[in-house]
Amino acid sequence: MKDLKNKTVWITGASDGIGKELAIQLAELGAKIILTARSTDKLNEVKNNLKGTGHLVYPMDLLDVGAIPKGVEEVLSQVGQVDILVNNAGISQRSLAKDTALTVDRKIMELDYFAVVALTKGVLPQMIARKSGHIVSISSVAGKFGAPMRTAYCGAKHAVIGFMDSLRAELHNDNIKVLNVTPGSVKTNISVNALEGDGKKHNVTDPLIANGLPVEFCVKKIVRGIQKDTSELLIADTKTKMAVYLRRFFPNQLFKLMTKMQST
Ligand SMILES: NC(=O)c1ccc[n+]([C@@H]2O[C@H](COP(=O)([O-])OP(=O)(O)OC[C@H]3O[C@@H](n4cnc5c(N)ncnc54)[C@H](OP(=O)(O)O)[C@@H]3O)[C@@H](O)[C@H]2O)c1
Repeated sequence: MKDLKNKTVWITGASDGIGKELAIQLAELGAKIILTARSTDKLNEVKNNLKGTGHLVYPMDLLDVGAIPKGVEEVLSQVGQVDILVNNAGISQRSLAKDTALTVDRKIMELDYFAVVALTKGVLPQMIARKSGHIVSISSVAGKFGAPMRTAYCGAKHAVIGFMDSLRAELHNDNIKVLNVTPGSVKTNISVNALEGDGKKHNVTDPLIANGLPVEFCVKKIVRGIQKDTSELLIADTKTKMAVYLRRFFPNQLFKLMTKMQST
């Protein structure tokens, strides 16, 4: 298993939820964490409670994709190298396609897909030069099958998987590992922060998320996936895993089930 001691791990969306817990668990294994999100105060609080030293807070609004290359340059000048990038920052959706402004589709795509692509491209050259590195992306089961009220989110999460699967093949000879994580519902603020059709914050913890997997459990599995150089990791309850299986092998059955789904 990969030793994470003294590895430099850049985590986006590290101020809350899955990203915050990843910072905690990876720091416990001796990793040095670069914490990125918009909320500087929250990031500093997370950093101050991490085990070990050498962690760095680097606030960014990743919706400003054009600013990412400069951000990467600044981070690299401070830490020297990034061993593992965790593309975790993301935003979900709670609206029907017909009620969703195109600006909202674009916003979700910008953060959940283009920021991932830009950050990944930013850290790759130094990984390729060292013939070592790891790109981890937190997609979703929404990247494996479509569900109502999530058109933009499912589109972006599918796109991440397509990009990363292609990248994995391209980087094989450079010894760079690519892990796609596809969690089902995890108990975080994801639905509170999700966008409605007019771009307003949803502000509701919906039942699927309230009854979701504990974030500590999900993150333990992700860390194990990184240590074992896993390429794809599905972390979900049995019903959700069945949906992924149906989409793969019996798609028409899943499409029929989806028409009856009471989505929130
Ligand atoms: N929870 C689930 O059920 C679930 C399931 C499958 C996949 N996922 C995926 O897991 C990832 C983490 O989600 P979560 O559940 O931990 O959600 P969360 O609790 O809402 O956390 C989202 C994180 O993203 C950051 N973020 C949001 N907008 C940003 C921006 N413009 N620039 C930089 N950072 C930004 C937030 O920090 P700031 O607000 O401080 O910027 C926060 O740290 C997401 O990609 C999500 O799609 C979650």
